[in-house]
Parts: sequence; structure tokens; C-alpha cells
Amino acid sequence: MEEHPARPDAFCMIGGATGVPARRHLVPRFRTTLAMTIATTIDAAHAACSAARRAGKRIGLVPTMGALHEGHLSLVRIVQAKSDFVVVSIFVNPLQFGPTEDLSKYPRTFERDRTLLAKEGVDLIFAPTVAEMYPSRATTYVTVEGLSDRLDGQSRPGHFRGVTTVVSKLFHVIEPDLAVFGQKDAAQLAIIRRIVRDLNIPVQIVAGPIVREPDGLAMSSRNAYLNPQQRKQALVLSRTLRTVQERFQQGERCAEKLIAAGREVFTAEPNVRVDYFLVVDPESLEPIADITGQALVAVAAYVGATRLIDNIVVKA
Ligand code: PAJ
Repeated sequence: MEEHPARPDAFCMIGGATGVPARRHLVPRFRTTLAMTIATTIDAAHAACSAARRAGKRIGLVPTMGALHEGHLSLVRIVQAKSDFVVVSIFVNPLQFGPTEDLSKYPRTFERDRTLLAKEGVDLIFAPTVAEMYPSRATTYVTVEGLSDRLDGQSRPGHFRGVTTVVSKLFHVIEPDLAVFGQKDAAQLAIIRRIVRDLNIPVQIVAGPIVREPDGLAMSSRNAYLNPQQRKQALVLSRTLRTVQERFQQGERCAEKLIAAGREVFTAEPNVRVDYFLVVDPESLEPIADITGQALVAVAAYVGATRLIDNIVVKA
């Protein structure tokens, strides 16, 4: 029996509540907590979703890497309002982490996540192991040429290839009617919309607004890395974006001038290192010089060793 390190108490059931058929070589492993099923294998997740579909249910998916916060839960609520069978995937995807990034220390809080999702009335958690998702060393990748090298893709080579590969796999396993992604990761959202269009994947993509802490910090699983001093310093990201928004509302349309105004805010926080600060087209992610329509103002910065991102969308 394969082990799930995050969940030593996981057990194996054959058949049962979801009616997953037993197979000799691949035993579906899942557990039902009240009405919520936890599937750790692709077979079990696929079978549960097929059963829901046969029952006429509209399936909604929220892909996550766990360590859930209100931002994630807001996406769950969006899916819930638009579908009858809510699936949340929890998978810390090694393919999207660079060799020097935080894969091993990425927060893993499965028991807490499970409790939160049960309270939200989620129908299925898909929480596979790495071996289940990537059984062989060789991997087929899904890459969006061009887009994948912009914004976070520029400073995190291979990151978006990892995201589009795992999200494509999740779409095949769950076959959702709709999937929700956060505006917080605006470049990720644009790239996922692109794979769906380019590969004719029959799923509706819905964007969820950024959920913030009361003081303006965008919620992120990585905020857990910040010490109290860094937590205060991190506010410079949202402060900067607010300054840009104000200048925009006062009529400034020149991206260079907006960025200069924003960068000035960063100078007050010398311990925060800007990675990128750009005005781009929200779809193509190409830089915009003068804003005449919609523009994405996106920022990424290191607070200590923690890389945080935030953005706003402005409309002329
Ligand atoms: P993760 O960082 O766990 O985020 C899961 C989803 O939650 C993403 O769509 C993200 O944009 C959204 N999200 C995060 N913080 C948010 C906030 N403050 N407000 C609203 N939504 C927020 O993004 C990933 O995981 C992965 O790349 C994934 C898509 C799961 C592929 O591995």
C-alpha cells in the first residue's frame, strides 16, 4: 500500500460510499468524512467524478497546494455557487518549484485543510502523492511558449511549465465543467486561460478576486514564512499598488510614470527587494507603455528570502 506522508491514518477502502469499483492492480484509496470523500489515487478521484457526472452533477474544481487560507476558501465558495459537486485538489507540485526554491519547506497542513474543507461542504478532496502524479522520471510537459517566460516565468524558469503540466493533468483526472483560479496569481490565470483555449479543453475558467488581510496584505500560504518585522515590511507591496491606483485615478496613463511613483514607495522599505514591477496586458502579459484599456499592474518582491506577489487591474 502506498504511503501518504501527510496522512499516516489514511486507509484503504474498496467500493463504499462513492461506489468506486475495486481493481486488482490499482486499489482506489479514499475515505469519506461525513459527505466529503478524500481520494489519494487518480483512479479513485476519476471514478468519484464520473459517478457525480453520471448523476447529472456539474463539477467544479479548485486546484491548490494546500496550507489553505481565506483566499482559497473564497474560491471554494465561488465554485460552490456555480456547481453541484465541488472538488478541491491539494498537491504540492514539485514540477513548479525551482531547484533552489521552497519545495521541502512549503507548508503542509493537511489535517487543518481537511477540516476547513469539510466545513465548507466540499464533496471531494483529491490529494495524490508525488509518485501517483508523476510515476516515471520522464515527464510530458505542457508549455505555453512565450507567455511562460513572462513575469514570474522570467525569474522562476520552468515554473509555469510545471503549473500548466499539473493543471492539465488535474483537468484530465477530474474533468471539471468549471475551474476557479485566483486573480492573485494573475500571470498563472492568463496562462491557464491560454492552455484551455489552445488545447480546446472543455472547462470554463473563472477568476476569483484577491482576498486580503485587513491591513491590505494579499493572503498567501507563503506569508507564514514572515517574522513579525517582515510581515510589516511586506505591506509595501499593497501600499505601492495603492499609490499606482491613486495616480491612475488622478489621470496618469503613462506606465513608466506609474511605475516610477510605485518604486518610490519601495525606497522606504530597503529590506524589500523588487523582483519585477510591470504594467502589462492582462491576457498577453506583454508590457504596455500607455494605458488605453485594461492593464495589469503586477509586482513581485523578496521580503527576506520570501518571494511575494501582488497586483491590481486598472481600466482606462
Ligand atoms: P496555491 O498557491 O495553493 O493557490 C491555489 C489557488 O488559490 C490559486 O488559484 C491562487 O491564485 C488562489 N489564491 C491564492 N491566494 C489567494 C488570495 N489571496 N485571494 C484569492 N485567491 C488566492 O496556485 C497554486 O496553488 C498552484 O500553482 C496550482 C494552480 C494549484 C498548481 O499547482
